[in-house]
Amino acid sequence: MTLESSSKVFWANERVAVIGVGNMGMALVNGLTNANPGAARKIIVSGRDRAKVQESMRGLGVAIAGSNSEAASKASLIVLAVKPQIQAAVIAEIRDRIRRGSTVLSIAAGIPTSMIEEQLGGRAGVVRAMPNIAASVGASATAICPGKHSKSADMQRARMLMGSVGTVAEVSEDLMDAITGLSGTGPLYVFTILEGLSDAGVKMGLSREVSTALAIQTLVGSAQLVRATGEHPAKLRELVTSPGGTAITALHFLEKSGLKATLMDAVEAATLRSAQLGSRWKRDVK
Ligand SMILES: NC(=O)c1ccc[n+]([C@@H]2O[C@H](COP(=O)([O-])OP(=O)(O)OC[C@H]3O[C@@H](n4cnc5c(N)ncnc54)[C@H](OP(=O)(O)O)[C@@H]3O)[C@@H](O)[C@H]2O)c1
Repeated sequence: MTLESSSKVFWANERVAVIGVGNMGMALVNGLTNANPGAARKIIVSGRDRAKVQESMRGLGVAIAGSNSEAASKASLIVLAVKPQIQAAVIAEIRDRIRRGSTVLSIAAGIPTSMIEEQLGGRAGVVRAMPNIAASVGASATAICPGKHSKSADMQRARMLMGSVGTVAEVSEDLMDAITGLSGTGPLYVFTILEGLSDAGVKMGLSREVSTALAIQTLVGSAQLVRATGEHPAKLRELVTSPGGTAITALHFLEKSGLKATLMDAVEAATLRSAQLGSRWKRDVK
């Protein structure tokens, strides 16, 4: 089956609840409704403040539930997109209204599937996902992992949903903090790099508009080249580094300032922070 036809089958058979429509919930709803004509009719959302949810969902065509438990009761796939610290309360609220055979997909940083499974008491299969904000334009890099008791149908639902808004990698749960550090937090690194390149162009006399447009295309084009060739980035770097040229001159500065080490430090720090936050939720929820 092609991706397009399996996506059609998915939207024909499933109803998706998104509980919590802040930055990430909104990004998911935008990405899902843009990518799949007809998806809006199969999505129901809920939030803390119904009027606020209605306002943010205006024009998208999704259903708005009066409560989290109403949203959960109408869905086969329930996405929990609330902050980690309130996820336990939301699960307690929806637990008794979840339909048999449903899947709960948590995108909360740090909260392990074992804890969600325990809170749900076997009422649904559990999958954990770490998407990023580029889901809103169908370009998230998402990782998913199953809970101990989840079935292949749970993973298939998660794969289909997240596959509608970008790429999906399946990993074991012990890697989810690293995923959070790399691709969950990743847009921050890229936004910062883009801002730096755009500022640099402006410093060299380009207009902001031209500088930003060229910086974006350079970043997207270079990433596409790495993906298309499958080459190690260091090998491609050789292609642009001619003796005595501009690239080797610039590279000298990047090495002196330790750009690569800084990126590695940042991903490591974000990974450790994710693990630290996770252990805090574990303590709080007990
Ligand atoms: N942002 C990211 O880049 C990103 C990336 C990957 C994963 N995540 C994960 O996504 C989750 C949401 O993060 P976020 O950045 O989207 O946070 P956010 O912008 O604060 O969104 C959370 C949403 O939950 C709503 N909410 C609060 N209490 C609720 C309740 N009792 N029932 C239903 N909804 C409720 C909030 O509404 P009010 O504003 O009205 O309180 C808000 O709209 C987190 O678990 C985070 O770890 C985020």
